[in-house]
Amino acid sequence: MATEDRVLVLDFGSQTAQLIARRVREQHVFCQLVRHDLTADRIRELSPKGLILSGGPMSVYGEGSPQVDPEIFELGIPVLGICYGMQLACRSQGSDVAAGESREFGRAMCQVNIENPLFFGIPAETQVWMSHGDQVRDLSEHFNSIATTETCPHAAVQHKSKPIYGLQFHPEVTHTTLGGQLLRNFVRDICGCEGTWEISSLIEREIEQVRERVGNKRVICGLSGGVDSSVVAALLYRAIGSQLSCIFVDNGLLRKGEAEEVRREFGSHFKTDLHVVDARDRFLGELAGVSDPQVKRKIIGRVFIDVFKHEAKSIEDAHFLAQGTLYPDVIESGANPDGPAATIKSHHNVGGLPEELGFELIEPLRDFFKDEVRKMGAALGLPDQLVWRHPFPGPGLAVRCLGEITEEKLAILREADAILIEELHRANLYNEIRQAFAALLPIQSVGVMGDARTYEFPIVIRAVTTDDFMTADWYHMPYDVLQRISTRITNSVRGVNRVVYDCSSKPPSTIEWE
Ligand code: XMP
Repeated sequence: MATEDRVLVLDFGSQTAQLIARRVREQHVFCQLVRHDLTADRIRELSPKGLILSGGPMSVYGEGSPQVDPEIFELGIPVLGICYGMQLACRSQGSDVAAGESREFGRAMCQVNIENPLFFGIPAETQVWMSHGDQVRDLSEHFNSIATTETCPHAAVQHKSKPIYGLQFHPEVTHTTLGGQLLRNFVRDICGCEGTWEISSLIEREIEQVRERVGNKRVICGLSGGVDSSVVAALLYRAIGSQLSCIFVDNGLLRKGEAEEVRREFGSHFKTDLHVVDARDRFLGELAGVSDPQVKRKIIGRVFIDVFKHEAKSIEDAHFLAQGTLYPDVIESGANPDGPAATIKSHHNVGGLPEELGFELIEPLRDFFKDEVRKMGAALGLPDQLVWRHPFPGPGLAVRCLGEITEEKLAILREADAILIEELHRANLYNEIRQAFAALLPIQSVGVMGDARTYEFPIVIRAVTTDDFMTADWYHMPYDVLQRISTRITNSVRGVNRVVYDCSSKPPSTIEWE
C-alpha cells in the first residue's frame, strides 16, 4: 500500500478484531490487522500513526497468554488498548489486573469523570458494551481513571505522560452508542491521521497499480455473477480495457437470468472480451444420479476447474489470472508475515483454481472488506442489484435442489427462487435480509387444485440475518409477504403445491440445506 496514514490493530485473538479495523476505516483512516507479537522495531519500520491492542479470550496473567513487546509503549506512537489490550497496557506500566467479582457481559452506563481527548464530544453518561472477566484493579500512579461504570472503577484510563489510553469496554460494537466517535477521536485527533482514505481515490490508485504491474500483458478474470469477481472485472476493465478477458462458466446451476445479466454487464456495458462457456450438459451429465451433497460439490469443483482451464488455454497470450480475494481471506490464510496467525478457514472455496494453471495472480481486492468492495462496485458503475446481491454458493442450485438433480427440478427451483427475490425487493426487505433463497425438497406431497388431486414438490423458503455467516438467525418475515410469495409460487410454478418457511437458526442448522 502507499504511504498514507495508517493505524495497526494488534490482534490478541478477539472475535471483534476485524471489526475494529472496519470501524477505523469508516473514519477514513487505513487500518490493518497485525500479529500481536510484532516487535517494536518492526512497528517502527511500518511507521503507523497509531496502535490499537485488541481484546482477547485469555487472562493477561494466564500461562501462555499472548503478550506484547513492552517497548511499543516507548515509541511515542499513541496506543489504545481495548479490554484485554487495555489490561496489557496497564499491566506493562505497573498496574494490577485481576478477575472481577463476576464476569460482566452486556450493556452498561459509562460515566466520564475527567475531560480528555478520547471522550471529546461524548456526553458525561453514555451506553457502552462490556464483555470481560478480568479488570484493572490497582491502577498505577501513572494513569488517570477517566471513566467508570457501576461494576468497573476503571472503565477508561489515560496515561499521565505517554499517549496511552485504555477502554475496558468495546467501542467497535454497535451497542457502544458512541463507539465510532471514540475511535474517531483516537485516530483523527490523538493519532493525527488526516482521514483522507476514500474509496474513489483508492480505485484510482488500484487502477494505477494494476496498469503498472500488467504492462501490455493479458489478464484473465473468472466471473461468477457475484459481487467480488464483478468488481475485480470492472476495476480491471477500467485499468487495462481490451487486455482483459473474462470467462464465465454456465454450469446449468445458475439462478434465473444470471447468465444473461453477466452478458449484459460484461459484454455490453463493459465491453470485455467475454467468454461464456456453455458447460450445462457436461455438469448436469456428471451430476446425473448423484444425491450426496459432498459428492455433488466435488464433481462441480472438478468439472469447473477442467472447463475453466480448457477455456483459459484457448486465450493464447494470457499471463495473469485475477482473483477476488478479500482482506478477511488474506487474514485468515495467514499469508502475510506481519499479519495475525492463520485461523481455521471458515468459508468454502469451490472453484479455487489450482496453481498448475501457471498464471501469475493479481488480487486487487486483497486490502478490502466486503462492504468496501461493494462501495467500489457502485463507484465503478455496477448496478445496485449486483452490488448488493446476496451471496450465492459456488455449487449454485445443486445444493438447493436436494437429492438427485434433474433439469425439471432445476427449472422449478429457478422460477420459485425468482419469485421469492422479486417479492422481497417489492416489499423493500431484500437489503434487510443477508441471504434468502428457495430450496426444493425431493419428496412429493398431496394437494388439491381445482377439483383434482395433485402430488407435487414442496418449496422451502429460507431467509436469514447474520453478521458473518458463521451463525445466523432466521428472518421474521412479515406474514403478508410470506403469503404473497406462497400464493404466487403455488399459482404460477408448475410442479409445486406447497410452500414452507424455514424457521431454524444456525447453529444447529446451516444456512444452505445441503
Ligand atoms: P452454511 O450452509 O455453511 O453457509 O451455513 C454459510 C455460507 O456459505 C455459503 N456456502 C457455500 N459457498 N461453496 C460456496 O462458495 C459452498 O460449497 C458453500 N456452501 C455454503 C452459503 O451460501 C452461506 O452464505
